[in-house]
Amino acid sequence: MTSDTPQRLTLTRPDDWHLHLRDGAALEAVVADSARQFARAIVMPNLKPPVTTTDAAVAYRDRILAALRQAGGDVTAFDPLMTLYLTDNMPADEIRRAKASGVVKAVKLYPAGATTNSDAGVTDLLGRCAPVLEALQREDMPLLVHGEVTDPSTDVFDREALFIDQVMIPLRRAFPALKVVFEHITTRDGAHYVRDAEGPVAATITPQHLLYNRNALFIGGVRPHWYCLPILKREVHREALVEVATSGNPRFFLGTDSAPHARGLKEHACGCAGCYTALHAMPLYAMAFEKAGRLEALDDFASRFGPEFYGLPRNTGTLVLERVPTVVPDELPFGATTIVPLAAGETLDWRVAAG
Ligand code: DOR
Ligand code: ZN
Repeated sequence: MTSDTPQRLTLTRPDDWHLHLRDGAALEAVVADSARQFARAIVMPNLKPPVTTTDAAVAYRDRILAALRQAGGDVTAFDPLMTLYLTDNMPADEIRRAKASGVVKAVKLYPAGATTNSDAGVTDLLGRCAPVLEALQREDMPLLVHGEVTDPSTDVFDREALFIDQVMIPLRRAFPALKVVFEHITTRDGAHYVRDAEGPVAATITPQHLLYNRNALFIGGVRPHWYCLPILKREVHREALVEVATSGNPRFFLGTDSAPHARGLKEHACGCAGCYTALHAMPLYAMAFEKAGRLEALDDFASRFGPEFYGLPRNTGTLVLERVPTVVPDELPFGATTIVPLAAGETLDWRVAAG
């Protein structure tokens, strides 16, 4: 460590532009972890049943704040930004209601069958959803995209790259003014597509895709807590993600995709996809940025580029990280069961300062 190695890092209070909070006891178990670090979060709508209407999103938002209050969190310091789950049958008028609500900020595209609770997702985006896409473009509301093709015969490691040609390019040609967020990009293809595309397109990047390549899934045996979708890729892809995330390009911003599943459903013959990172998201990102020698780029990635893309103000508060080696707990309470955070048992270089 040199004398100019920072011991504390004061950031503008960040936002999480991609988060799964679940519902019920699970929601109550996890929501305070996000609220401790983030002022706002874009909350994913893939509940059972999915959040497909503005009324359901407003009710879900109330449950999130009630759960945060129950968990002892500060409900005045955390603003859940809601999303709707796009289906083949969503009426275009729903977008007008969503915009008027003031709490729904985006619509999420899950290609049917792509991931957890995506069965009700879209089967034919341009064929079935053109009126909704037109309404989103008109209302200046972003479409958030899970960017993987779903044909089960395609290689799981190729699904994101194929999605660019098969869905992303035709979508953006048909709706060039539509704001699109390519969520949780995992490949050089995704990173370079977003970097080089014309028009209002951006991407979120998770901590696990900045820190790990696909070897992490198999060190010493199958490690289900590193399994998420889109799956971790080769090292060249991780390097491309680090490059764009730390480059100062405003198209790339923070979205954890923290996705809690009970321990028993991860450590299972058919384990669920999702890494739990809400607990330690900012220390994980700080490690990735520091490893790239670009700690000074973290503030814009975490706190500035997201609100700019969404047309929202930057937060005014701060979040302080301090360099204190901190072991990630082996497990955490999760309703009647437990959850294993990403990198459980490992030591992180940073922790969130109290206060
Ligand atoms: O790993 C994932 N988990 N990817 C997703 O797209 C969904 C998420 C979940 O909801 O568990
Ligand atoms: Zn997600």
